[in-house]
Amino acid sequence: MKTRITDLFGIEHPIIQGGMHYVGFAELAAAVSNAGGLGTITGLTQKTPADLSNEIARCNEMTNKPFAVNLTFLPTVSSPDYPGYVKAIIEGGVQVVETAGRNPVQVMPYLKDAGIKVIHKCTSVRHALKAQEIGCDAVSVDGFECGGHPGEDDIPNMILLPRAADELEIPFVSSGGQADARSLVASLAMGADGVNMGTRFMATVEAPIHQNVKDAIVAASELDTRLIMRPLRNTERVLNNPAVERVLTVEKAKGSAITFEDILTDVAGVYPKVMIDGDMDVGAWSCGMVAGLIHDIPTCKELIDEIMAEAEILIRTRLEGMLSHIKSAAT
Ligand SMILES: Cc1cc2nc3c(=O)[nH]c(=O)nc-3n(C[C@H](O)[C@H](O)[C@H](O)COP(=O)(O)O)c2cc1C
Repeated sequence: MKTRITDLFGIEHPIIQGGMHYVGFAELAAAVSNAGGLGTITGLTQKTPADLSNEIARCNEMTNKPFAVNLTFLPTVSSPDYPGYVKAIIEGGVQVVETAGRNPVQVMPYLKDAGIKVIHKCTSVRHALKAQEIGCDAVSVDGFECGGHPGEDDIPNMILLPRAADELEIPFVSSGGQADARSLVASLAMGADGVNMGTRFMATVEAPIHQNVKDAIVAASELDTRLIMRPLRNTERVLNNPAVERVLTVEKAKGSAITFEDILTDVAGVYPKVMIDGDMDVGAWSCGMVAGLIHDIPTCKELIDEIMAEAEILIRTRLEGMLSHIKSAAT
């Protein structure tokens, strides 16, 4: 399939794996890129720019296809060495950067001078337009369904994608709730040029995370996520567990007086314990509603090949078939 996104990134299929903390290591990024999509290393999971350089080098050993690095600009306790990470990205010969969170305007000149394509992930049309204005090449439009941080507007993709299509000139992909060929074809129908998936790629053979996490996603339904940290305006969609219940109880009790410190133990520093050790209840971890559509753990190639094959059938048989009577009536 050829879209503005496959052209922009020089990839075979319009399918991107979004950056994911403690999930987006070189193994997953390379597997997605080798399968014809665009894999992404999560920059800030690497503790220092030197670590990121090593991870990029490892990925370059595993694939000769384009891959991305995610740079997330979120409110963090201590500000990461962004200039150092950008240097590691440029020196590593990375071709695409996925930015997310706050406006990436400060890093844009460096990335653009190095010829790097930038796709900014955002949760509203106004932020997408801002990304276009500061020179981003594309945007990932992240609906309310998404795993991770859906923002504070709560607009689902059925509204957000056509709204983005109406306003944007640069290409965009749908993000949040995307899992299969139906997601891809629906996204294309709403004006997107591809899909970005997070949770779906966690339940793959190559995702370098504990089997417990993959099993939890397969076992979960679309009813099993919760929104936490809304009172702090840092809303995150997570899979429900006892730690999440504790956070929600504290949020309810404290109301608008809540501070980050009140929930710190259940939300800070938990990712390595969940993703690497498989300690599922130790804290809150991001997961999308799309878990309800995930029932297996394929390889990235099996997943992407199946999406592309079924998308073709959907378009050629189901959709085209609905129009066939028009043709026969005309002849
Ligand atoms: C476990 C997990 C960790 C994530 N970490 C990040 C991150 O560090 N930076 C980022 O920009 N997005 C992050 N995301 C969001 C994903 O890149 C993607 O936008 C989102 O998962 C799309 O929604 P979906 O899960 O419904 O596919 C994360 C998502 C998950 C599920």
